[in-house]
Amino acid sequence: MMYTSAQLQEMYQGWLETLVLNRNPQSLYEPVKYVLSIGGKRLRPVLMLLAYNLFKDDVERVKPQALGIEIYHNFTLLHDDLMDKADVRRGHPTVHKRWDDNTAILSGDAMTVLAYQQMEQCDEKHFSKVIKLFNRTAIEICEGQQYDMDFESRLDVTEAEYMEMIRLKTSVLLAASLKIGAILADASEKDADLLYDFGICLGLAFQLKDDLLDVYGDPKVFGKKIGGDILCNKKTFLLIKALELANDLQRQELYHWIEMKKFSAAEKINAVTTLYNIVGVNGITQKLIEDYSAKASALLDEVSVSDERKEALRKLMDGLKVRKV
Ligand code: IPE
Ligand code: IPE
Ligand code: MG
Ligand code: MG
Ligand code: MG
Repeated sequence: MMYTSAQLQEMYQGWLETLVLNRNPQSLYEPVKYVLSIGGKRLRPVLMLLAYNLFKDDVERVKPQALGIEIYHNFTLLHDDLMDKADVRRGHPTVHKRWDDNTAILSGDAMTVLAYQQMEQCDEKHFSKVIKLFNRTAIEICEGQQYDMDFESRLDVTEAEYMEMIRLKTSVLLAASLKIGAILADASEKDADLLYDFGICLGLAFQLKDDLLDVYGDPKVFGKKIGGDILCNKKTFLLIKALELANDLQRQELYHWIEMKKFSAAEKINAVTTLYNIVGVNGITQKLIEDYSAKASALLDEVSVSDERKEALRKLMDGLKVRKV
C-alpha cells in the first residue's frame, strides 16, 4: 500500500489523539496539549512516514517515532517563540502569551522528554542508530538557534553563514525525520543518506520560504505575525541580500532602521519591506528556493526505488514551494 501525504497526515492526526497527557500537574501538561491541538502541517512525521513507505507498507510501525519527532518540533516552537518574542503561532496565542514565560520553558522541557520516550520505543536492531541520529540532530538545532540569536546583533552576517545557520536550525530535523523513516524500513545506508541529503536541501528551501512568508505572507492564513523577523533584526536571507544589493543610501536607511531603539512597529515593517521591494529580494529568494528544490529532486532521483513510489514525496516537495502556511 502506498500512501499520499494527505492520508498519512490524517493517520498521524488520529495517532496524536491517542496520546494520553492527563497527568498532574495539569499546568505542566495543558500547554503541551494546547500546542499539539492548534494545528500545524505535521510535515516532519509525514516526511518520516513517506520515507518509510518508500520501502515498506506497514507504516503503523513508525508511530512512536512519528509522534516523537512532532513533539520535539513543537517543543522547539515553544522556546523559539519565547526567544523571538512571537505572540501568535498557528493563528493562536503562543504558550508564553497564553500562560507565561516559565510555563513555556518548563512545558517545553517536558516535551523534549516526552519526545524521547516515544523515540525510544524502537526495536533493538534500530535503537542505537535512531537515538544517535536524534541526539546529533537535537544538539545541532540548539547550535542553529544560537547562531540565529547571535546574528540578530551583527550586521556582517554572510550568505554562507546564514545557509549554515538554517541548515542547523531547520534542515537537520527534516533530514533526520526522513532518515529515521529509512532506517526503520531497513533501507540501505546509501538510500538513507540520500534521503538525509534530500531533507537538507528541502529544509533549506523550506526555511527560505518561511523567511519570505514572514514578510510577504497573507496575515489571514500564515498564522504568525507578519514582519516579526524585521522587528527582531533577524538576519534572514532577505535582509542579507538587501544589504548586499542596496546602494549606499538604501543601505544607510536599512542600518538606520536596524539600529533604531524606539520605533513604531508598523512603520519599521513598512519601511524595510519597501526597501526589500525596491531591491527586489523577493524574486532572488524565490529563485534560490527553486535551486534547492531542484537539488533535492536530483537526490531523490538517486534513491533506489521506483518513480511510482517516490510520487507522494515529490508532490509534497512541489507543494511546499507554493505554500501559504
Ligand atoms: C516552523 O515550522 C518552524 C520552521 C522551521 C520554519 P513549520 O512551518 O513546519 O510549522 P508548523 O508545524 O506547520 O506549525
Ligand atoms: C525556526 O525558525 C527554527 C526552529 C523553530 C528551530 P523561525 O524562528 O523562523 O520559525 P518561525 O517563523 O517562528 O516558525
Ligand atoms: Mg520564530
Ligand atoms: Mg527563531
Ligand atoms: Mg520564521
